[in-house]
Amino acid sequence: MTDAGTRWRALSVSGLLAGLGCTTDTPSGAARMPAFSGSGAADVGSPGVPTPSVSDADLVSIAEGNMNLTMRAATAASCLAMQACTSTTTPALPEAPVPGARLVVREHIPINEDWRFYKYPSAAQADNLIYDVRPGVTNAQDDRPADAQPTDAVDVEANQPVLKAWILPSGNDFIRDPARRHVRPPGDPGSDFAFVQSAFDDASWQRVDLPHDWAIAGPFLAGAAVGVGGGMGRLPSPGVAWYRKTLEIPVADAGKSVFLEVDGAMSYAMVWLNGHLVGGWPFGYASWQVELTPYLIPGGANQLAIRLDNPSDSSRWYPGAGIYRNVWLTKTDPVHVAHWGTVVTTENVSAAAATIQVQVTIDNDSGSDASVEAVTQIYALDADGNRGGESVAALEPLATSVAAGQRAQLQGAVTLANPRLWGPPPTQTPLRYVALTTLVRDGQPVDDYETRFGIRDLVFDPEQGVLVNGERIYVQGANQHHDLGALGAAFNVRAAERQLELLREMGCNAIRMSHNPPAPELLELTDRMGFLVMDEGFDAWEQAKPPLDFHLIFPDWHEQDLRALIRRDRNHPSVIVWSLGNEVGEQYTGEAGAVVARELRDIARDEDPTRPTTSAMNYAKPDMPLPAVVDLVSLNYQGEGIRDAPGYAQLTGIRTPPLYPDFHRAFPGKVIFSSENAAAVSSRGTYLFPVAAESSAPVADGLGGDPARAYVSAYDLYTAPFGSSADKVFSSLDQHPYVGGGFVWSGWDYLGEPTPYYQSRSSYFGVIDLAGFKKDRFYLYQSQWRRDLPMVHVLPHWSWPERIGQVTPVHVFTSGDEAELFLNGRSLGRRAKGPYEYRLRWDDVVYEPGELRVVAFKAGATWAEEVVRTAGAPAALALSADREVIRADGRDLAFVTVRVSDAAGITVPRASDSIQFGIDGPGEIVATDNGDPTDLTAFPARERRAFGGLALVIVRGLRGQSGVIQLTATSGSIQAGSVTLQSRVTP
Ligand code: GAL
Repeated sequence: MTDAGTRWRALSVSGLLAGLGCTTDTPSGAARMPAFSGSGAADVGSPGVPTPSVSDADLVSIAEGNMNLTMRAATAASCLAMQACTSTTTPALPEAPVPGARLVVREHIPINEDWRFYKYPSAAQADNLIYDVRPGVTNAQDDRPADAQPTDAVDVEANQPVLKAWILPSGNDFIRDPARRHVRPPGDPGSDFAFVQSAFDDASWQRVDLPHDWAIAGPFLAGAAVGVGGGMGRLPSPGVAWYRKTLEIPVADAGKSVFLEVDGAMSYAMVWLNGHLVGGWPFGYASWQVELTPYLIPGGANQLAIRLDNPSDSSRWYPGAGIYRNVWLTKTDPVHVAHWGTVVTTENVSAAAATIQVQVTIDNDSGSDASVEAVTQIYALDADGNRGGESVAALEPLATSVAAGQRAQLQGAVTLANPRLWGPPPTQTPLRYVALTTLVRDGQPVDDYETRFGIRDLVFDPEQGVLVNGERIYVQGANQHHDLGALGAAFNVRAAERQLELLREMGCNAIRMSHNPPAPELLELTDRMGFLVMDEGFDAWEQAKPPLDFHLIFPDWHEQDLRALIRRDRNHPSVIVWSLGNEVGEQYTGEAGAVVARELRDIARDEDPTRPTTSAMNYAKPDMPLPAVVDLVSLNYQGEGIRDAPGYAQLTGIRTPPLYPDFHRAFPGKVIFSSENAAAVSSRGTYLFPVAAESSAPVADGLGGDPARAYVSAYDLYTAPFGSSADKVFSSLDQHPYVGGGFVWSGWDYLGEPTPYYQSRSSYFGVIDLAGFKKDRFYLYQSQWRRDLPMVHVLPHWSWPERIGQVTPVHVFTSGDEAELFLNGRSLGRRAKGPYEYRLRWDDVVYEPGELRVVAFKAGATWAEEVVRTAGAPAALALSADREVIRADGRDLAFVTVRVSDAAGITVPRASDSIQFGIDGPGEIVATDNGDPTDLTAFPARERRAFGGLALVIVRGLRGQSGVIQLTATSGSIQAGSVTLQSRVTP
């Protein structure tokens, strides 16, 4: 991992641990850190994705199922003997299950249903149970260019009681240095507050199921000075709110360890149980757990109360609000596998064999020492993530003793013959395995733990980029924010899967989780679908971007948050690199910034020596300290040239030519990626005239931008001031072939950051709009990323009654190399792409209604054809669903496209008719949208106008009710349309 190396070959955990053997640790207080710290794993109930179209209910059923493990009766091997446990061949499988020995305790129970929710009408009216004081906001401007220089961190003196000191101990397991762990002060703040009491009557509070985003239903806050501007999506995400739920804990749970696991709560979560402050976690994107055991009353109702406090001016995009990911109750024997307590790594990977290293961390929360044996078996998973019946390998049992209140680690390995490797499609297959670990204590099985993993060989080569199993995989990536459009931040497996499916159709093979830890289930999807992932921690370190962002808690929490991210995610084969940050202000602070970067890098290496680190940079130059710190060079925009084209000459701000060669020279041992590129903007299907002559131009009022309507032209030539069109990005990357590929900003539109028109609600950056409709650019990417797919796409639409006789440029994207354009049967010429050209242009076409036909050629032969016809008046509504059969689990979704067509069935491309929706049967309309960033109609509305002739309805099946759902759409005198869906309890 040095600059000098010519190939950055992924190291394995086991390599670094060789000879370490099992370790025990003597923790102080609540914190336990092993000599080699923790692990990242999916446990028995952690989200899995067993079928191609996965509903959240599948995840739940995985959670509820017990692992049907076979196990070997305990034969205590000594701790030292463990080092000899590495088998060189696949050993005989352990014996059949011991009859009557299934005493495994672990339960991982989703507790998403039936919460009570209350949000204060305003932050000023909220209680004063605050985590910490915050600085006043003096500059709430939310439309600063994304590459503006961040400002200094702010220190604020607390002048009122704050609860921070009681919350900080929740992160102790993620602080390496025992001296820096936090000791809970005496006292129990908030214990006398009404909302945390069992006796409090919350019947008047709103009943909600999780995942829940309190802001997504709106209303949108239109206009200026509304508190939440376009930057954060004009939705009421800031504020203080409470969630309450009663947990029935059976008396049989006495003596167990019980944890509350929260996959994500936005933000500053603080948890009370039965009136006692348990702990919490401020970072809204983190997954975390707190231990409930000391406050639990087995054999009765237990009152859980969670307070969230989402700051205004805290994000550069829509952050979401509420408990927006899954929540679980985990019950274990006091002797159990630790939270994210396994690490599975693979090495010496070839078609013939692979060595699987398994490390298991065991916590002994009991009052007595325990002799423990860990038995791990390996099973293959099929393409859908289902486990095969027979195990394919087993580690020799590993044994140790764990003293009361201590933590220990075990480590072993097994060699698997003929492994089925994990790799990205279309050339490879993302096959996986699962390690099932059973803990046996004093002869009794006490815990089961599941770790899904993949076997793949990763090499980072400075001349080629990333090689997976020896094959160069050019990164054709997309940056994705965490929201799911009209569903907000509330995580939904099917909605996320749909996002990935459309990106895959475009040829995308990699996702950058910009700029924060994703939902755990999203990584299950990227594992199963075979995307490469840049997993990212933070958008800010010590330097602020918005005034109340993560920088406020960075000093106290960066170690815990980074370690938590890596421990949670490090068994995912899709994750190939840890990104420590995005465009952080520390780029500007020289050596001081590099010190911060070095600390984060060292934490990442400590948690996972098998993957490189990076940090996405838009300002840093090769001779600055920051880039030297990280293992891979990730360049945002800068790499293709910020404001580096004649069209950008009048703009101020950072200006650099492409710096790929400079970085390549300065860091000959480091791979370079274009971690963010393009930042092109457009409103789907909206074409504005005149059209820029260049292949890339900053959007300006009158050139690509219509300030009155807040639309950006869909000729897809226009960009943020620091950005560049896809054409310019392709050209730049093709001219620097050692760059390993890049990630477009952004794959999908997202809520917030509506550059250049901040009166809007959502971005213009997406290649796919917020509703999931393809912009023209989709086909430009597809033409480059799927060159074997015969395709051609022509723009604009051809329905311009007011443009008869006017010049109306026609542009064509094709995976071929030439195309001929015909207008009403007349050839307008055949054109070929020149070097570093990615679109074919006929800029002098004079509009006449009729038929525009394009025929593409590749190597001289006909390759693909497309026809666009002039549409008549709106005459009918045509509905089609992405899937007509959905699960009746209250989570699975059908995405229904509503198309306004003329009498001949041609889509009316500028139709904006208002459409009303009705539903019959066991389903509900969750949200509607049209992909128009300017549409401030609340998402749950059952009436929505079409945008570019299209609208979207998201339908959910009611839980437990099979049946036929009929969705109808009507609009004045236009012929109504409908679609029939089947919702099935067991599809
Ligand atoms: C980048 C930034 C992204 C987004 C993008 C488009 O500079 O990293 O988060 O803001 O610009 O504005």
